[in-house]
Amino acid sequence: MDFGFYLPTKILFGRGKISEVGLHAKELGRRALIVTGKSSAKKTGNLEKLVRSLGENGIEWILFDKVKYNPFTTDIDEGGAFAKENKVDLVIGLGGGTAMDTAKGIAFAALNDGPMADYMEGKSGEKALPIILIPTTAGTGSEANNIAVMTNPYTMAKKGFRNPSIFARVSIVDPELMDSMPPKITASTGIDAFFHALESYISLRSNPLTESISLKAMELISESIKKAIYEPDKESRDKMALASTMAGISLGQAGVCALHAMEHPLSSYFNAHHGEGLAPLAEAFLNFVKPYVFEKLAKVAEVMKIDTANLSKEQAAEKTIDAIVGMIKDLGLPESISTFGVKKEDIQKLASNVKDYMAHNLSATPGNLTFEDILKIYEESM
Ligand SMILES: [Fe+2]
Repeated sequence: MDFGFYLPTKILFGRGKISEVGLHAKELGRRALIVTGKSSAKKTGNLEKLVRSLGENGIEWILFDKVKYNPFTTDIDEGGAFAKENKVDLVIGLGGGTAMDTAKGIAFAALNDGPMADYMEGKSGEKALPIILIPTTAGTGSEANNIAVMTNPYTMAKKGFRNPSIFARVSIVDPELMDSMPPKITASTGIDAFFHALESYISLRSNPLTESISLKAMELISESIKKAIYEPDKESRDKMALASTMAGISLGQAGVCALHAMEHPLSSYFNAHHGEGLAPLAEAFLNFVKPYVFEKLAKVAEVMKIDTANLSKEQAAEKTIDAIVGMIKDLGLPESISTFGVKKEDIQKLASNVKDYMAHNLSATPGNLTFEDILKIYEESM
């Protein structure tokens, strides 16, 4: 056995925890850039809670509320320039995955010259402004890792930028901020968290620490996601928030596999919502990996409380796949990639994008999948 596990983020979990953000911000800077979306943090009152705590602790702040879904590297460049102009010394991301990833990107772009696209392609850079992350959805887990997903507009490669400097110094996971999430967002972000847990669990880079975290995350999600969507209460929201952060930890350490790789061009070319894009690909992807990971999939059946009495591990793995497909249906998520406007003639382009830009995720995927396998998974997901 041989592995490493590095997570330098202070994670604070609990209802009402956002009121402590100013205390932590004070340790990191004096003038914060708040990175958030145009409207939801304002409408829900979450932004108000954040700035109240900053004010109580004497932190100046300035707002960057131009976060876009599926951000381009050029959007990050714009935010980095804004951070420099306004001489901030701290970046706070408040929102879903895109807000947090944009905050991470901006914190990095503020201290590194040249376009972000170059760093995505491997240019080195090691510094970033200190970052505080505050998720308002239970899905991405970005608060618990050093990945910022963005799209290079010149190549349409959507991928995760990884850098040790963009781990949050402090992440505040306050499930109260998620109480206002509408059902559709709860479903699409929740299924994203589930696949972070599942893909990191079967990843060739998993280790005993990430595997146990991934399994617990899947257990929490499978017992609470329906409730969080259809009759949300504190307990289901809390469990989803915890599971999302846990899955975000595993994703950061062990990586995700081809399912995430194959969703990314659906987002970059068809603007699919990330979680909704994962859903219709899942069955064909899981059928592909099943022969290589059936023992792990049988273990997933246990945490999902699927009755597998008298079944072989192969049969239990099939039951797990059936249960996941059933969950996708129950949550009202898309069951075909044609939902996003994908036509048969687009599949070659999607598969080429995966092959060209997602090698990192492909190499974590059991089964050595080929270009033809990728084409087949897309075809089966139509
Ligand atoms: Fe994801």
